[in-house]
Parts: sequence; structure tokens; C-alpha cells
Amino acid sequence: MDDLFRVLPLLSHKVSPRPPPSPNYPSSSSLASTTTTTMFRTAVKQSRVTRSAFSSAHFSSTASKNSALKERLSQLIPAEIESVKAIRAEHGKKSFGPVLVDQLYGGMRGLPALIWDGSVLDPEEGIRFRGKTIPECQAELPKAPGGSEPLPEALFWLLVTGEVPTAEQVKELSKDWAARAAIPSFVEELIDRCPPTLHPMSQFSLAVTALNHDSAFAKAYANGISKKEYWGPVFEDCMDLIAKLPTIAGRIYQNVYGQGKLPAIDPSKDYAHNLSTLLGFGDNHAFVELMRLYIVIHSDHEGGNVSAHTGKLVGSALSDPFLSFAAALNGLAGPLHGLANQEVLVWLTKMQQKIGKDASDEAVKQYVWDTLKSGQVVPGYGHAVLRKTDPRYTAQREFALKHLPDDPMFKLVGQIYNIVPGVLLEAGKAKNPWPNVDAHSGVLLTYYGLNQMQFYTVLFGISRAFGVAAQLIWDRALGAPLERPKSYSSAAIKKIFADKN
Ligand SMILES: CC(C)(COP(=O)(O)OP(=O)(O)OC[C@H]1O[C@@H](n2cnc3c(N)ncnc32)[C@H](O)[C@@H]1OP(=O)(O)O)[C@@H](O)C(=O)NCCC(=O)NCCS
Repeated sequence: MDDLFRVLPLLSHKVSPRPPPSPNYPSSSSLASTTTTTMFRTAVKQSRVTRSAFSSAHFSSTASKNSALKERLSQLIPAEIESVKAIRAEHGKKSFGPVLVDQLYGGMRGLPALIWDGSVLDPEEGIRFRGKTIPECQAELPKAPGGSEPLPEALFWLLVTGEVPTAEQVKELSKDWAARAAIPSFVEELIDRCPPTLHPMSQFSLAVTALNHDSAFAKAYANGISKKEYWGPVFEDCMDLIAKLPTIAGRIYQNVYGQGKLPAIDPSKDYAHNLSTLLGFGDNHAFVELMRLYIVIHSDHEGGNVSAHTGKLVGSALSDPFLSFAAALNGLAGPLHGLANQEVLVWLTKMQQKIGKDASDEAVKQYVWDTLKSGQVVPGYGHAVLRKTDPRYTAQREFALKHLPDDPMFKLVGQIYNIVPGVLLEAGKAKNPWPNVDAHSGVLLTYYGLNQMQFYTVLFGISRAFGVAAQLIWDRALGAPLERPKSYSSAAIKKIFADKN
């Protein structure tokens, strides 16, 4: 609760008004065929419970159901249910502050409206995952042998349990996710049939939606599962979701940009390593390290941002985690949210085309002004909550200083950092003139050769699944109800205040 109260001052803020997809790709199990697909469909009809008639590579939930993480959760849930009951008994009727009409018109900025346990965002300090800052996560979470960035598996464990896992627990998660990584052959076919001109985020969302076909929760619900048991199959779906995202992303990447065959997942490697391999960068140690850091810092940003809130909202209708997260992805695909990382690179590239690669500060400043005067936003700058430089930006800058200090694009990002905030302040509109996470990520990816800007938000999407999944599990464990806030018409607002006068 302390963390929640730290965001309350916000209430006083004034709210202003290629080539076609190859039909020759082998399935991820090398077994995909019409026969397998038919078998798959028949078996789903035959049994909703037994999946063993099929190659495990074609099904979700192939890993052990008694994972250490699930076991730990089942220990934590009863106490948390009691804790929430106690909070509601003691504070349930207390006011959380006034609601201003401006907040209704102003995108609900600062309006306390949601419970989100994985992370809390302080406007000045930035994100804390279960109370830990990014540098604290970097210091405390287990790493891969020879690595210096925290493992995303460890971050997920932290988001879900609030505890730092052991190296052994992290290893088990890596193995579990690798075992669940394959996607049904009909989803492979679905991706392969997308035209390469369809934005990778649309392909990603389509494929995630289709995973709902095998949802353990949807099946359990149809079979009449008790409310108290919801979290179990939701946990399984969330584990499947996270595990399968790299396979989907890798396939989209290969279809749209690559020519080669999709490499196999290595069960002895960690999640970020396997993702890097699927994208063709598995041999590049620094890239793998970048992916570990990238996933950790993009995973969660409390609950009110568009993707997180959408995932929670849709989940509250008891839509399964695949449907909920696909909806979240569609929000992430917007240019004011996750697509901003693509927009930054597009903007930087256009800038270089217009004013050259070694442009003076004056020329850059003029370009920033031209952007604003043409009614566009400067992508990668500003934030709805943050009022300081985003620590996720700082973490990426530190990574760049270590791995690519002399890269010209990195230097351009630094040059822009010295110019944009001054211009935004002078323009006088943006409440936060400082850079956010998206101002830096694309430059790092480009440096290692992942220069397909339209793909960047897919990587953000993989990361964001960690935070959304953690909350979906808790929402179902704690019996979170259907979300249904009250809306008003402008006419109603006029009338309410006219009646009061
Ligand atoms: C993130 C963002 C959507 C937050 O929006 P917000 O909470 O409404 O921000 P503010 O309250 O500071 O906005 C006040 C005004 O400043 C403008 N503004 C904010 N950031 C701006 C930016 N980077 N460039 C230009 N104008 C900006 C807003 O568009 C708004 O203008 P309006 O009054 O004409 O509608 C906004 O800062 C933005 O568009 N940034 C660029 C896109 C981006 O990087 N998104 C990723 C966020 S992690």
C-alpha cells in the first residue's frame, strides 16, 4: 500500500484538456503435416483431457504440472487471499481522493482504479518490480553462467511470487518453457499464410489469439471448474503463452525477413538465448545478454498502461490468457505505446536522410521543432506517469556504454537527449520532456543487425507477457471481479453540476 500512496500526488496534477511466406518451412517439431493436423483435430474432439495421443511438440501444457513455481504459488495464495480480505475490511470504505472531471476527459491520468501487484511506477524514480529497482534486479536476480544481465525467468518468478528465486528454480523454469515452446501446426500454417506485408504485430496478435484453441482454462471452464480453482489452469495457460511467444515471433521474423529454416529450441538454454537463436542471433553473446536485459526492463510497468490494463480488463471477463494477451498486444501496437520503439527508429532515419549523419546540434534542434510544428509527437519522449528520465532508458544507455560506446547511432541518441528536452520544455506542452524506454531500444537492436524496425514491438510484446501473465494468475487466484467502471455522457456531467448549483 505504501507504494500506492506514493502515486497519490498525481491526483493534484492538472489534467489537460517480401517474399511470400515459404510453404516449405518444416514445423517446429519437423513433423507438421496435414496428417498431423487432422490427427490433432480428431483428438481434440475425442478427448478434452488426454493429449498424449499426439506428439508433445504439437501441444501446450506438455511440461510438468507440478512445477516449483506452481507449488510455491499454491503456498502463497491462501495467505494473500486473507491479506486482501483484511485490507478490504480495514480500508474498504476509505476514500482514495477526489475524482476530477478533467480526469474523465483526460485519459484517467492519476486516477486510482486498479490493483496490480507485480510492479509500481513512481513518477520520479521509475519502475520497481515487487519493490526492486532495475539496478537491484540486475544485482540480485540469478544470471546465466558467464552472463551479467538478469534472466527473464528470474524476473517472472519475482513478479509472480515477490521472491528472488534460486538458480535451480530458474533453471527449472527455462526447461519448462523450452518444453512448452512448440505451437500447434495450424498456428504455424496461420502465420505462414499471412502476407509479409501484414505488420508483424498483427501476425503476432492473430497467432496468440489462435492459441486459445488449446486453452486449459477455457476447457476447464466449459467443464464447470469451481471459481476457487481458476488460477491453476490460468497458470498453465500463462506458462504456455510465455513459452510459445518466441516460437511465434521467430516464425514471423523468418517469414517476413529471413530465408532460412527456423532453428530448434535448445532445452538446455535459457529463454532469451532460445529467442535469440530463433531470430538468428543465438551465437552472439552480447545480443543474448541484450535480450535478457530487454525482456526484464520491458516486462511490466504497473497496471494502468494500455497493454497491461487491456490484458487485465479482458481477463476479467474470464477470457483465457491467450485472448486476454492478444488484446493487450493490439494495444501495444499503437504508436503512443509500444509501437513508439519502431517510430523512434523511423524518425531517426528520416532525420539522418534530411540533415545528414553528422548533423550539428542546431540542425537537430531545427528538425525537432519541425516535427512539433507539423503536429507530430517526438517519439520516445514524454510519459503519462514518469516525470524524469526513464530508468529503462538509463539501463539501456549503460548497456550501450559497455558494448557499443562508439556506435554512431548511439551517439545520435545521446545528442538528441541533450536537445529534445529543452525543445519540449520551450514548446511548453509536454508534462515530461525526458526520454522513455522506446528512445533507446531500437538503436541497440539495430547495432546487432536486427534492423527491421517493424519487428521491434514484437519483442516488446514478448516481454510484456511476463507482467500481464503474472497479474492474470493473481487476479484469478484472488477472485478479481469483472471490470465495469462507470461512464458518463458530457450531458450528464453538465446536468450533475447544474443540479448542484
Ligand atoms: C507518452 C505520451 C503518449 C504521454 O501522453 P500524455 O500523458 O498525454 O502526455 P502529456 O500530458 O505530457 O501531454 C500534454 C501535451 O503534450 C504533448 N506531448 C507529450 N509528449 C510529447 C512528445 N514527445 N512530443 C510532442 N508532444 C508531446 C501531448 O501530445 C499533449 O498535447 P495536446 O495537449 O495537444 O494533446 C506522450 O508523451 C507521447 O505522445 N510521447 C511520444 C510517444 C511515445 O514515446 N510513446 C511511448 C511512451 S512509453
